[in-house]
Amino acid sequence: MSRVAAPHVVNISDLRRLAERRLPRVVFDYIDGGAEGEKTLRENSRAFETVTFRPRQCVAVPQCDLRTDVLGTAVNLPFLLAPVGSSRMFFPRGEEIAAREAGAAGTIYVLSTLSGCRLEDVRAATKGPAWYQLYLVGGHEAARAGIARAKAAGFSALVVTIDTPVAGLRERDIRNGTRELVVGGLSQLPFLAQFLTKPGWLMDFWRDGGLMHFPNVVPPGRGPLPYLDVAAALEQTTVTWKDFRWIREAWGGPMLVKGVLTGEDARRAIDEGVEGIIVSNHGARQLDGVSATLRALPEVMTAVKGRADVLIDGGIRRGSDVVKALCLGARAVLIGRAYAYGLGAAGGPGVARAIEILRADVLRTLKLLGCPSVNELDRSFVDIPADWTRVERQFRHYELTN
Ligand SMILES: Cc1cc2nc3c(=O)[nH]c(=O)nc-3n(C[C@H](O)[C@H](O)[C@H](O)COP(=O)(O)O)c2cc1C
Repeated sequence: MSRVAAPHVVNISDLRRLAERRLPRVVFDYIDGGAEGEKTLRENSRAFETVTFRPRQCVAVPQCDLRTDVLGTAVNLPFLLAPVGSSRMFFPRGEEIAAREAGAAGTIYVLSTLSGCRLEDVRAATKGPAWYQLYLVGGHEAARAGIARAKAAGFSALVVTIDTPVAGLRERDIRNGTRELVVGGLSQLPFLAQFLTKPGWLMDFWRDGGLMHFPNVVPPGRGPLPYLDVAAALEQTTVTWKDFRWIREAWGGPMLVKGVLTGEDARRAIDEGVEGIIVSNHGARQLDGVSATLRALPEVMTAVKGRADVLIDGGIRRGSDVVKALCLGARAVLIGRAYAYGLGAAGGPGVARAIEILRADVLRTLKLLGCPSVNELDRSFVDIPADWTRVERQFRHYELTN
């Protein structure tokens, strides 16, 4: 019996537990942790708990349709795999493996700029659609080169992440010696013991070439960016609305903006001509104290008014969370940690298991709700806390007066 089959693994928390067992503390906490006091990390999940379902009973729905389309691309599932940087540190060829499993399930894989595998190899690994997530790390010329390569390789949309003007303070990373381990030398010595208890991961790590580079970030006249600690890399990635013009020209295809949390920014993004908006707080890894993404969704929906596809991520651990987000208007969701735990736990089978758990959850939830298709989910299937609609009303008022 596979290690990730039932009864060992029944839900995403079980995959998280297995990932914690296989990975050194510094890698597990890099996946699992959030910024500062992790308030937003907790809130992302709690927000889903405060929304309750209103099922339609005595309705026969023998077949349920999970298919939808996102920016005109047909997908078999209403969830995509979010960009997760340094996935290659979780499992050998991590990004290629995750992309392959997404494709096998008929959904989209979004590749991070800060990937350990070459974007061409990742594109070739999946038979499904793939999108490229852009950071301006390494400077504009490196970004232009990355965009050109992504276009040539066949990535079909560009996701511009806008919430990383500096890296969030990930306190767990500091305690685990992330920086010291990357820099090397004597300062890493106090942090090395954590690897000795994880021989399986250590063998995989060396087999896969040791500390990865960033092969998709190649500043002119230099080789691929070495593995700085991720915090330092993120500090060079400020993007402003002004950048959208040259990015759009360089890309020449559909674009999404990732990291929107307010109606104002959603409106601004649409003015810049994006086709998709991802309501995201970077999995609560950047500014601690921002609202849970689900809570921000109604305001963004009010601002967008159907002019772009709205997606959401953050805190999704069950298919019922996916369904709640769709009820509030999201076209689809992205999952981050849910599949990253699977990758860290067991590579490809772990990612496939995460996808299967969420797929089965969504299907069962639809049946229990008496709804035949993800495209027929709407607000009538949920109750949301009263103060959520107050924010929405305030934004409508703001729109009328601005
Ligand atoms: C380990 C890790 C690495 C991430 N790396 C990136 C990245 O390189 N680019 C990006 O736009 N978002 C990145 N994110 C954020 C995810 O794309 C996504 O917004 C977030 O994981 C969603 O929340 P969830 O993990 O609770 O599902 C990362 C998230 C995690 C957990």
